Amino acid sequence: VSPAEHFADLKRFVRFGPDDETALRALLAHARPHFSAIAREFYERVREHEQAHAVFESEEQIARLHTSLCAWLERVLTGPYDLAYADKSRQIGFVHVRVGLPQRYVFSAMTLFRLRLEAVAQQALGASALPVLGALARVLDLELALMNEAYLEAAVAHAERLEREHERLLLGSREATERRLVRAVGLAPAVFIGLDPSGAIQLFNREAERLTGYDSSELLGRPIAETLLDGDDALLAAALGSAEREASGPLLVPVRTRTGKRRTLGVEVSHVPAEGPDEAMVLIVGRDVTGEQAVTERLRQSERLASLGTLAAGLAHEIRNPLNGALLHLTFLERALKREKDDGDVTEAVDVVAGEIRRLSNLVSEFLEFARPSEIRRKPVHIQELCRHVASLVKVDAERVRLELALPDSPIVAAVDAEKIEQVLLNLVHNGIDAVLAAGSGRVVLGAAREPRAVVIEIRDDGAGIATPDAPIFDAFYTTKPGGTGLGLAIAHRIVTDHEGTLGFESAPGRTTFRVRLPLGAPAGSVEGPAASEPTP
Ligand code: HEM
Repeated sequence: VSPAEHFADLKRFVRFGPDDETALRALLAHARPHFSAIAREFYERVREHEQAHAVFESEEQIARLHTSLCAWLERVLTGPYDLAYADKSRQIGFVHVRVGLPQRYVFSAMTLFRLRLEAVAQQALGASALPVLGALARVLDLELALMNEAYLEAAVAHAERLEREHERLLLGSREATERRLVRAVGLAPAVFIGLDPSGAIQLFNREAERLTGYDSSELLGRPIAETLLDGDDALLAAALGSAEREASGPLLVPVRTRTGKRRTLGVEVSHVPAEGPDEAMVLIVGRDVTGEQAVTERLRQSERLASLGTLAAGLAHEIRNPLNGALLHLTFLERALKREKDDGDVTEAVDVVAGEIRRLSNLVSEFLEFARPSEIRRKPVHIQELCRHVASLVKVDAERVRLELALPDSPIVAAVDAEKIEQVLLNLVHNGIDAVLAAGSGRVVLGAAREPRAVVIEIRDDGAGIATPDAPIFDAFYTTKPGGTGLGLAIAHRIVTDHEGTLGFESAPGRTTFRVRLPLGAPAGSVEGPAASEPTP
């Protein structure tokens, strides 16, 4: 509805017509001298009411309103009652809204104007005042209606502003929530990898970067199968392509890092359906379980070894007793044979059997130790003394083997199990001597040196060298020595690793060096010498 139509409609309802215009103009000249008094009275009325009076801010404003009211009265009685007129009246309403005048006060205020103007009309026109009174009622109704429209418009505008504000807040909080989500996924301590339906990487968070060593920029858009996956993993492929769009159960997925290392991820694969402009996504969420897997594997292995140890202990017991019995009887047999007649062949056969039985018995003991190692008991040990002690225990054919010590003067003390390390060194020194003897003659050097956090003990020999350096010489039952059990080095290796140390070797023809590296450990308490000797002060 146009403003013109709207005003015409209002006038029609109020029944305001040309006669009214004439009547009002007839009143004008009589009323004008009273305008100022009427305006003053209006102000007095308002002043009686505190809340209404609080609308005013200053004396100048009151003075301004006085002038405005006189002008208004002039306009109401003069016309012309056209669109510009209606606009001015509506404008008053906007000013009232702006100054915060409550709408409810406007009606009585208008009544005051009406009563005063009616009084003036009756006084001036007497009996012929009747049409003027009607015209006055109608024109002031028009005024009220027009002035009050502003309140509705202001209320609507206010509601719209509130709604806009509300939306802005909502949008703001939605954006903030999304930002928070993005940050959370980006920085979460879990791997988040998103794939598009073709398997190309679309999302690669910080943890995924940390774990794989890739920067997300290197992977985004590239197929996961060609970058991270090691070969095609059937389980993962099934989960990725699963048409059910259901979350997979937990999967173990081997991935390749940027440097080619392998790590194992424990993941769940879920399908995020397409929404709006975003296509569907396969979301892989998981974490690195490589370490846990290694722990589980070690645990399984030690459990296996433990049960093997129990079994071996029982078996060893069962085997050792009859072996000892057999040896005893062999000795009788040997003596009897010697008494009867000296048949060299038979005696030799008996010797062979005895040797084999001793070897078997040895094997059983060593195997027992390998399968069920005893606990490490660390104490500060003076390494040079330990080496000297080991050298003193070894009996060598001085003609063919020279056993030398190469030990530094300043004492090296390490927290180790003296008895066990002694066993390791004895084993290595014996191996060295055997190698030298096999080659004819030569030296075996037992040396020690201190590193910042470790002690290195070296056993060097001039033997022929290890023919196959890649052979698994530390594996149980691997041996090249006739009559060897293949457990000596395996046990030595085990003892050194139990000390969190390393056992390695270098070998070339004419020189083989075994190196035992042991962490020094916390230097505390008294220093213990070789297992057999008294502690040194
Ligand atoms: C039907 C009754 C009323 C009429 C006809 C009327 C008329 C007017 C007019 C013509 C103006 C000037 C508008 C302009 O500047 O464009 C005005 C402004 C104003 N009116 Fe009223 N008014 C009425 C009721 C009231 C009441 C009840 C109050 C207070 C309780 C009031 C307070 C004011 C104030 C504070 C201004 C602003 C003055 C200024 O800062 O210039 N009015 N009014």
